[in-house]
Amino acid sequence: MYRLGKQEIYEVRKVIKARKMFRVGDPKTGHLQEANRFEKEWARTIGVKHALLLSGGGTAALMAGLAGMGIGPGDEVIVPGYTFMATAAAVLMVGAIPVIAEINETLTLDPRDVEKKISPHTRAIIPVHICGIPADMKKIAAIARKHKIKVLEDCCQADGGSFRGKRLGSWGQAGAYSFNDYKIMSAGEGGALVTNDNSLFERAAIFSDSGAGFRPYTKNFTVPIFLGFQFRATEIMGAILRMQLQRLAGMLADLRRIRAQFITGLKDNPGIRFAPSNDPRGDCGVVVGFQFESEARARAFARAEGVGGFLPIDSGKHVYCNWEPVFKHRVGIHPGMNPYRMPRNRGLRMNYTRNMCPRTLDILKRTVLITLHPDWKKARVRARIEACRKAGASL
Ligand SMILES: Cc1ncc(COP(=O)(O)O)c(C=O)c1O
Repeated sequence: MYRLGKQEIYEVRKVIKARKMFRVGDPKTGHLQEANRFEKEWARTIGVKHALLLSGGGTAALMAGLAGMGIGPGDEVIVPGYTFMATAAAVLMVGAIPVIAEINETLTLDPRDVEKKISPHTRAIIPVHICGIPADMKKIAAIARKHKIKVLEDCCQADGGSFRGKRLGSWGQAGAYSFNDYKIMSAGEGGALVTNDNSLFERAAIFSDSGAGFRPYTKNFTVPIFLGFQFRATEIMGAILRMQLQRLAGMLADLRRIRAQFITGLKDNPGIRFAPSNDPRGDCGVVVGFQFESEARARAFARAEGVGGFLPIDSGKHVYCNWEPVFKHRVGIHPGMNPYRMPRNRGLRMNYTRNMCPRTLDILKRTVLITLHPDWKKARVRARIEACRKAGASL
């Protein structure tokens, strides 16, 4: 969360004063419809037909996307080895099996390894735009088309980013966003799913509202009503996110400006090499990444006075080999609902080893990230760049 203030407070007050916090209601009775309005505005921003706001966060959005695609037991879904464990958890929560693939130097899914990991059971790929860095959607979409499998973009850390001028989330059949407190836009919690596919949207909407059958808006649905979860968003979430959306362009512009200042200020400096980007313009600018030839050098750079960097290998739950419940097959509320024990999943690739993606581990050990903030003043940016320059020169 970067910017939050009076506007959000004003809009939330309106919702509370009207005593209309439940999103389901009749617009004719003066219902505020903040969640509905946010969905329309978000769909327009991303450039897609449908958006669904969810209380369950990015995890729920990923689950709704997979459910919308009809993915479940008997299916494998490819996820990268560098992402929050929720990406793999969402696959398991719909009964499918995550297959872990390598990243490349961009820190995003390596298309070459994706192609190698595709099996007759693969039904989808989840590229993750980690730290706001766009994955190579052109290559990933082409692989998916060739193998007739789906793409669900995990944009949880990349609200509003783009690849080749097209918003992240609009390249795949669906895209999932998170609005928790660590994300670009925040309502404390919450998530959204976007898609152009009508039946995917209908299935996702039914899946995420256990009372969908009683809602007037489902009258025109072509998908028969089934029972699902309860991830309905509140009007308060809608009100906050509508204001956050108004701030989005400014936040991204400032993050990108600061990232560009690091790059112009440090390029051609001895000891400095930036992590490559699939699209520097579409990158959200949440971090600036450096790469070194060894872990020792990366650690020396990150530790140098004033740099304030971190090695992604140290980010715990974001590195596949620390996904203990996945490795140990501890999933679900009952052994019979554990995908690793489901008869339909027999024979799928579910034996993970700590070293199964050696390239991912090597890259994460040699990379240093500096987390940026859109409200950093000029002097602060200058001092940070100078610290990086000195640290690079002293390696
Ligand atoms: C890459 C990624 N995917 C999924 C999620 C899950 O989002 P949430 O915590 O909103 O459920 C997160 C959030 O931390 C994330 O960073």
